[in-house]
Amino acid sequence: MPELKRLHVGHAPAVLAFELANRGYFAASISDRGDDYFTQFTDRYNALLAEQEAGICAFYVLVAEDNSVLGRFNLVDIEDHTAELGYRVAQHVAGRGVATATVREVCQLAAAQHRLRTLRAATSRQNVASTRVLTKAGFVPVGPADPAHIGGKTGTWYQRDLVLQPHSAMLPGDRLREDRGDH
Ligand SMILES: CC(C)(COP(=O)(O)OP(=O)(O)OC[C@H]1O[C@@H](n2cnc3c(N)ncnc32)[C@H](O)[C@@H]1OP(=O)(O)O)[C@@H](O)C(=O)NCCC(=O)NCCS
Repeated sequence: MPELKRLHVGHAPAVLAFELANRGYFAASISDRGDDYFTQFTDRYNALLAEQEAGICAFYVLVAEDNSVLGRFNLVDIEDHTAELGYRVAQHVAGRGVATATVREVCQLAAAQHRLRTLRAATSRQNVASTRVLTKAGFVPVGPADPAHIGGKTGTWYQRDLVLQPHSAMLPGDRLREDRGDH
């Protein structure tokens, strides 16, 4: 069963393979990372780990049984118990509920492990899949997003308030891995 893991240095080759294999797929709905991202991959990856170490960000990877990366889920700009959520899921597992289930899981982690109270995410109007993911994970639209933030497109900020639950409890509508649909 795929597992959500905190990003570490050992994930670098699998993350690079994931980004390369899905580059065209991702670029159809969000900004391409650019050639420099790939030529400077190791430096940039290490910079991300340093940001994570500093507590500014928290990065997660959904790792398959063969250690390949199925998705990336990032909490960035952590400040005042709020963070921005970003995510991307491999084309070969698209449409199976992987993003929806994992975003729900990340919401729980964000509250329980990072003491976050609010998550925000910006998506373009044309990114229907991402909008569905956010809506199904309990995010609500809160206002227009600056096009500069989402690759020059028109879009919307979504927000979800997080409530820290006792360990045994789940947030309404939340289910964990059994909901991922890829087992
Ligand atoms: C957005 C993304 C993470 C969705 O991943 P996923 O695992 O395929 O998503 P899920 O299977 O959980 O759910 C996708 C929902 O969008 C719908 N969907 C998927 N592709 C779609 C498309 N091209 N057009 C319309 N709806 C689509 C699915 O039907 C599903 O909705 P439903 O449950 O109502 O049927 C993935 O497409 C991706 O990585 N895209 C590129 C990066 C990106 O856009 N990130 C978000 C930035 S804000």
